[in-house]
Amino acid sequence: MEQQDFLKRYETYRRAVEEYLSGLFAGDVPYQKLYESMRYSLLSGGKRIRPVLALEFAALGGLAWREALPFACAVELMHTSSLIHDDLPCMDDDELRRGKPTNHVVFGVTMATLAGDALQQEAMRLILESSLPAEARARGALYLARGAGADGMVGGQVLDLGDFGRDEPSLTTLHGLKTGEMIAAAAGLGCAAAGAPEEMHAAARRYALNLGLAFQIRDDMLDVIGDEATLGKPICSDREQGKVTFADVLGLEECEKEVRRLTEKAVAALGGWDRDGFLTALAWSLVSRKS
Ligand code: IPE
Ligand code: IPE
Ligand code: MG
Ligand code: MG
Ligand code: MG
Repeated sequence: MEQQDFLKRYETYRRAVEEYLSGLFAGDVPYQKLYESMRYSLLSGGKRIRPVLALEFAALGGLAWREALPFACAVELMHTSSLIHDDLPCMDDDELRRGKPTNHVVFGVTMATLAGDALQQEAMRLILESSLPAEARARGALYLARGAGADGMVGGQVLDLGDFGRDEPSLTTLHGLKTGEMIAAAAGLGCAAAGAPEEMHAAARRYALNLGLAFQIRDDMLDVIGDEATLGKPICSDREQGKVTFADVLGLEECEKEVRRLTEKAVAALGGWDRDGFLTALAWSLVSRKS
């Protein structure tokens, strides 16, 4: 796929996601601060990679992609919740996210914790309340619960904050859980929305797990070589906390090679499902990302 066609479709998806998200938690309620806090993080302009993945898989599965917007946005709500909690003083203790002060810096730790809690439940609500068939909703909810739960993102966060090993196999396990499983949930949600064949679900998962690992290795690299203004979050955060990451274990040059190797694996896993090459272009665009 030509780069300009890739960028155009990405932008079409991204805009639809922004529009959908901006309609959420906008009502007048007595607990207005909660809505403000949720919207503050939700609408502060992330890359929206997870919803874009979900929408493309839904389209490849034969669904009119806009119908998958509740599923795609659900994973973004869950992801945003994980970022709010990840930045808390009891976790990474970071003060900059998506180019703005972190949620707890603006709203306080209590409200930030609650905004994250609410976003998790609201993510499930979006899936379960959508107008897609019951089977699609049940499967989508299961994918997201698994991706974000104890044997997914949360388990990975526990390993990241504890004294789990920091050799390459341990970091691979850790990154697979904390980042890979949520990206796999995004791809799975797209397949579930479309009622795609089982072979496509399997290919989507293999693609997304490799992509997710590459994505987190690149994230570790950016903590060392990134530019804070472009990245929108602090650099050297991992080192300040004494975290050993892929950048320490492999060195930057090997990290780059590993990101490329994993991207090749991700693309190979797609087999013939990536009809016009959007998912291939997406994977390669992340190899040298700066934000
Ligand atoms: C950041 O995710 C957390 C990781 C899993 C590395 P993103 O890099 O997708 O963050 P946003 O959503 O674009 O802000
Ligand atoms: C976070 O990993 C992954 C999540 C589950 C949120 P990091 O702690 O490396 O993410 P950043 O660098 O703060 O975005
Ligand atoms: Mg973290
Ligand atoms: Mg962090
Ligand atoms: Mg990081």
